[in-house]
Amino acid sequence: MTEFKIAVIPGDGIGVEVMAEALKVLSVLEEHEQDFVLHKENFEWSSDYYLEHGRMMPEDGLVTLQSYDAILFGAIGDARVPDDVTIWELIMPIRKQFQQYVNFRPVKSLPGITSPLSNGDDIDFVIFRENAEGEYSNSGGRMFETQHSEMAIQNTIMTTAGIERIVKAACEYAEKNGKKKVTSATKSNAIIHSMKLWDEHVKRIIKNEYPNLALESIYIDALVAYFVQRPQSFEVVVASNLFGDILSDLGSGIVGGLGLSPSANINPEKQFPSMFEPVHGSAPDIAGKEIANPIAQIWSAALMLDHLGRADLSAKIINAIESVLLEGKIKTADIGGNATTEQMGAAISDKIIEQYAIKEDEESKIWT
Ligand code: NAI
Ligand code: MG
Repeated sequence: MTEFKIAVIPGDGIGVEVMAEALKVLSVLEEHEQDFVLHKENFEWSSDYYLEHGRMMPEDGLVTLQSYDAILFGAIGDARVPDDVTIWELIMPIRKQFQQYVNFRPVKSLPGITSPLSNGDDIDFVIFRENAEGEYSNSGGRMFETQHSEMAIQNTIMTTAGIERIVKAACEYAEKNGKKKVTSATKSNAIIHSMKLWDEHVKRIIKNEYPNLALESIYIDALVAYFVQRPQSFEVVVASNLFGDILSDLGSGIVGGLGLSPSANINPEKQFPSMFEPVHGSAPDIAGKEIANPIAQIWSAALMLDHLGRADLSAKIINAIESVLLEGKIKTADIGGNATTEQMGAAISDKIIEQYAIKEDEESKIWT
């Protein structure tokens, strides 16, 4: 029997809409697998919660989450609450306190989805974004507020330990998955302290510990152009927090958009729960219209199952997503159709049920 405790945080806007579909898909798996149970607990930590309680989550929110095996997150962001409050009081504390220092983001061409690039077929790489330090730090401050002499300092924090662990995670993944090359995003020609430290460690670790991997170190400005010009040439990309954030939205864009892109915030040591969420935000422009694409959220749930040791069930979800897209009958607006969020979710659930039906059919043939 495999049983897991899952904390579900739908959040705001389309987060709530796409989460409903991911939960339905997970329930379909639970119904069809004899030895698989998810104890899901819903947490309504959102902008509504903030407006009522003056904070994004309860004071002991992280203590509560710590007893779960994983966190499935939707998206957060609402015009009534400043974005830095929603992000820094909910997502950032979870990522940082739970040492989810790997942000794993696959970038893959999908059947039935046309890339906006004329050369956009067969793209298949992953981004390892540093997720706990770097440019996204709350170190710094402002002085002389409201005066013309006002100044702001925003510190980037890069540490040897922090760089080492993200680079090793990327290299371990590369070796395990038969990849030959790791691409590092840098800007050490202009950012001469933190990015030089980054470069030195990337080079040292790969040379000493992963001699079978080739290292390609590319300045971020050139790298964004290569993402467009030769996306097929990448296998594993490792980047700092800011560069990785931007690269993964670009990665998402070249394979068909934010509605399709999942991500995992991983604590590889499994000392704390990891968190799985789409790359996209709460999409206020389409929230409430029931037209958001739930694939990014459903695929994030698949990454969660993979992390929990059920790669078999994760594969069932991804197969189902791919067959719905290949068939092309059900498409949400972002990928050129007019299906609703619920219709897309139901189509994916149906494809999972079909996989079980085929399995049962094959088993009955063996016995008759
Ligand atoms: P966004 O990702 O919410 O939306 C960007 C564009 O992509 C919009 O046009 C939206 O309609 C479209 N889009 C996104 N997801 C989609 C889906 N599943 N199906 C179809 N279309 C989709 O980013 P934006 O507009 O910059 O931010 C909106 C809010 O989300 C802000 O409050 C921001 O702070 C927050 N945000 C939260 C994140 C999180 O919870 N991790 C990540 C990024 C933004
Ligand atoms: Mg982003």
